[in-house]
Amino acid sequence: MSVKSFKEKSIMSKNIVLQDYQISKIDRNLLNNHQSFLLWFTGLSGSGKSTIANAVEDALHRLGKHTYTLDGDNIRHGLNKDLGFTAEGRTENIRRIAEVANLMIDAGIIVLAAFVSPYEKNRNEIKNIVGKENYIEIFVDTPLGICEERDVKGLYKKAREGTIKDFTGISAPYETPKNPDIIIKTHQMSIPKSVEKILNYIGEKL
Ligand code: ADX
Repeated sequence: MSVKSFKEKSIMSKNIVLQDYQISKIDRNLLNNHQSFLLWFTGLSGSGKSTIANAVEDALHRLGKHTYTLDGDNIRHGLNKDLGFTAEGRTENIRRIAEVANLMIDAGIIVLAAFVSPYEKNRNEIKNIVGKENYIEIFVDTPLGICEERDVKGLYKKAREGTIKDFTGISAPYETPKNPDIIIKTHQMSIPKSVEKILNYIGEKL
């Protein structure tokens, strides 16, 4: 950040006073008749994050819950289209998504977010932004060999050839979650079973 924009930022936040709203998250949760929180899916590209998140959202929707999915591939076409895949780009990507998710949680929505999110530090930051009680980490633990074999988008091939750089698992790191709330092994468990495992975990919040 330049000195000028840093100064502008600190002057700005000094002059901004948070507003109180009449209606709170609790009011919205009571109206919806369910809690709002974040299901964060992390894992390699091609691990099945989006597939599982979609199936969980479908199940929640059928149960009459208010949901929304944020997905790396889609968000990077809009809100985050200015960001790349360096550690800085990914950090800013995750920070913005965490802030968006935080607003959505406040709005009473169950948010499903599917992002590679390879850095432990970034995932801890999400927890700080949304509050640890609102954050459920789901590690979609599909081995690199299987993701590469699937290569649904043909990106692993390009990464191996060197035409995509900083590719997670090939030329950029993936830091395995140390203490995820849920682990899904898509190569060992069917989609319906994976959905069941996640719904059981969040059962009391619904
Ligand atoms: S994250 O690391 O910042 O969390 P994000 O989930 O938004 O990544 O985007 C990952 C998706 O972008 C992948 O599923 C893949 O389709 C695509 N992609 C393009 N380049 C890369 C790269 N260098 N590393 C990982 N994914 C990439």
